[in-house]
Amino acid sequence: MKGVILYVSKYGSTREYAGMIANETGFPAIDLEKVKAPNLDTIDIVVIGSWVLASKFKARSWIVKHWDDLRGRKVILFSVSGAEPDEKIGKEFLDGSLPEEIRNSVIYFPLQGRFLIDQLNFADRNMTKVASRLFGSDPLLRQMMAGIDGVRRENIGPILDAIGKP
Ligand SMILES: Cc1cc2nc3c(=O)[nH]c(=O)nc-3n(C[C@H](O)[C@H](O)[C@H](O)COP(=O)(O)O)c2cc1C
Repeated sequence: MKGVILYVSKYGSTREYAGMIANETGFPAIDLEKVKAPNLDTIDIVVIGSWVLASKFKARSWIVKHWDDLRGRKVILFSVSGAEPDEKIGKEFLDGSLPEEIRNSVIYFPLQGRFLIDQLNFADRNMTKVASRLFGSDPLLRQMMAGIDGVRRENIGPILDAIGKP
């Protein structure tokens, strides 16, 4: 069984999860933004990891663009968000990011990542501060301002199970 992990990460937590999955499976983990024309001819399983930007998968346009190459393979998708994802939030990310055909064809796992205001670049830090001034009562923004770190090795357990299943 041959597989590959394609990920997009801005501040590192999605890359960390991709690395954990690579360690367990031996699949290579590759930055998806460097893959212009994927050659998946010999690949059975594609694991795609994407961080969440404004409630949507950063990788969504890449996935749509390359769906013809992905179609027919086992595609496991995981998202990495600031929000601690439950089923409802995960469904919102998935529904808001991908068309129905793709949604119905991927095995999806929403994971929590990391959001530390001091580690953001100037633009992201300023935007978060402005948003928190405007929408101060929003629970996610409050958590973001306080700092979020939900990266845990055990979060990849269900993904490894899905990779292992025929
Ligand atoms: C500009 C920006 C927008 C974000 N928007 C959301 C969002 O809408 N919902 C959410 O849950 N997290 C949001 N986040 C948090 C990221 O999804 C989270 O920090 C994630 O772990 C980043 O992944 P990375 O470390 O691989 O870059 C946002 C982060 C940034 C920097």
